[in-house]
Amino acid sequence: MAKFYITTPIYYVNDVATIGHAYTTIAADVLARWHRLGGDKTFFLTGLDENSQKTVTAAKKLENKDIKKYTDDMAEKWISVWKILAISYDDFIRTTETRHKNVVNEFFMKVYKKGDIYKGNYEGLYCEGCEDFVKESELINGKCQYHNVEPKEVVEENYFFRLSKYEKELLDYINKNPDFILPEPRKNEVISFIKNGLIDISISRPDKEWGIRLPIDKNHVYWTWFDALLNYISGAKKYWPAELQLMAKDIIKFHCIIWPAMLISAGYKLPKQIFAHGFLTVDGHKMSKSLGNAINPLYLTEKYGVDALRYFLLREIPFGQDGDFSEKALKARINGELANDLGNLVSRILTIAEKKLNGKVSSKIVDKKLTEKLDLKKIEDYIEKYMLHNALAEIFKFVNECNKHVNDEKPWQLEGKELEEHLYTLLEAIRIISILVSSFIPKTSNKINKQLGIKEGKLKDCKFGVVKEYNVKKGEILFKKV
Ligand code: MSP
Repeated sequence: MAKFYITTPIYYVNDVATIGHAYTTIAADVLARWHRLGGDKTFFLTGLDENSQKTVTAAKKLENKDIKKYTDDMAEKWISVWKILAISYDDFIRTTETRHKNVVNEFFMKVYKKGDIYKGNYEGLYCEGCEDFVKESELINGKCQYHNVEPKEVVEENYFFRLSKYEKELLDYINKNPDFILPEPRKNEVISFIKNGLIDISISRPDKEWGIRLPIDKNHVYWTWFDALLNYISGAKKYWPAELQLMAKDIIKFHCIIWPAMLISAGYKLPKQIFAHGFLTVDGHKMSKSLGNAINPLYLTEKYGVDALRYFLLREIPFGQDGDFSEKALKARINGELANDLGNLVSRILTIAEKKLNGKVSSKIVDKKLTEKLDLKKIEDYIEKYMLHNALAEIFKFVNECNKHVNDEKPWQLEGKELEEHLYTLLEAIRIISILVSSFIPKTSNKINKQLGIKEGKLKDCKFGVVKEYNVKKGEILFKKV
C-alpha cells in the first residue's frame, strides 16, 4: 500500500471561493479519491491562509472589526462550499490555529540556527494583492500587472532568509529530478527564474496586530508566505513529504523556489512532485474581482448540479493548460456525454432488465466483443500522468462502446440465454464505469450503484464477472438535459 499525500494551496480567507479555487480543489479531490480507490494510504489536505495583510484590510472594511471573528465567519463559508462540491479532504488547516503556529516557530528556529536568518533593511514596493515584494520593472503604468493597484512603498527593518545561498542546490535538484516540477513549461520557467539570480527575501514585518510573532523578536510577525507554506507540514500529521502539491501557475515561484529552499535549510525532505495547472478564464477573459466576472461555483451547482460542474471542469480543460469556462460549453457537456451517453446507457439497460427479466440478471458468460473494449491500463496511465481530461475521454469512449453494443445487439429483441448474457455483460460494464467515474462524479456513481443494487467498488473490481447476480431497480434519471 503506497502513501499518497496531496495538497491544494491554502486560499486567502478574505476571498470568496470562485470556480478557479474550485478547479484546483476538485482536481485534488479526484486524485485523492482515485488513490483511495486503488487502496493507497491517502491524505488530502486543504485549508485557509489567514495571516495575510489582506485579511486585516478586509476585516477593517466591515463594521465588525474583530479580525479573528471575521476569519472564523469566512472559514465557515469556505468549508460549506467544499462540502457542497463533495470535496473529501482529510484535514482542513487554518493558519490561525495553534497547531500551525507551533510548527511555524519550530521550523523557523531550525532555519535560524542554520544561520539562514539575518536582520536587514528592506526598501521597496509591496503588492498586497500578491502579498509579495515587487520590482519597479514588473509594474505596468506604476500598477501591479495582476491586481491593477499601486503597490505600497515600504521602508522597514526586516528579517531576511538567505534564499540566494540555495541557488545552486535548487538548480541541481530540479535537474536531477525531472519530474519534480510539472508540467514541463512550468519547470522551465522556474529554472530560468533561478538562473537570473536569487536574492535573499524578507520574511517578517514589524506588526503587533495580526500574524504570528517571531520567537526571536516579538515586534515582528512572519511574512504571510513563509507562514502559509508551512501549512503543508502543520496540517500533515505524519504524512510529510507530500507526494503531490497542486496549484495554478500563479504561485510556482513560492512553491518551486522559496518552499524547497526553506525545506532544505530546515533539514526537511522535499515534496515528490509539484504540479501547476493553468488559469481558468471566463468567456475568454481573465477571471478577477475587479472585472466582476468571478463565477461563484454555487451559482453553477444550484443550476446544473455538482457532478456536472466537476465533470465539466476536468473534461473540458486539458489539465495543465489554460482553459475557458462558459455556460454554453457546460450545457453541451451535460446534454452530450452526461445525459445522452452515460445517463441513457444506464436508463436503457435497466429498463430492459426490468421489463424482460424482472430486474434479475445473471450469466456465466460475458461477451468478449464488449469486454475487450475496456482499456483500464490506459485510463490508469493517464491519471498517473495527470492527464485527467484524457482519462475521462477514455472512460467515456467505453461508455459509447457500450451504447454501440446495445444498438448492435438489440437486447430488447433477445430472449433466454442470449438475452441474459448481453444484459449481464452490460450491467457489469456499467458497474465498472461507475467505479471509474466515482472519483470524478461521486454522487452519480452512488446513484448508479443504488440502481444496480450493489456496494461501492474498488479499482481492483474493474474486471468482468465480479458481481455474479444482479437485482436491479431503475431510479431517477442521472442527468436532466438543459
Ligand atoms: N494564499 C495563497 C496560497 C498559499 S499556499 C501556501 C494564494 N491564495 S489564493 O486564494 O490566491 O489562491 C490561488 C490559487 O487558487 C491558485 O494557485 C489556484 O490554485 C486557484 N485559483 C484561483 N483562481 C484561479 C483561476 N482563475 N484559474 C485557476 N486556478 C485559480 O495564492
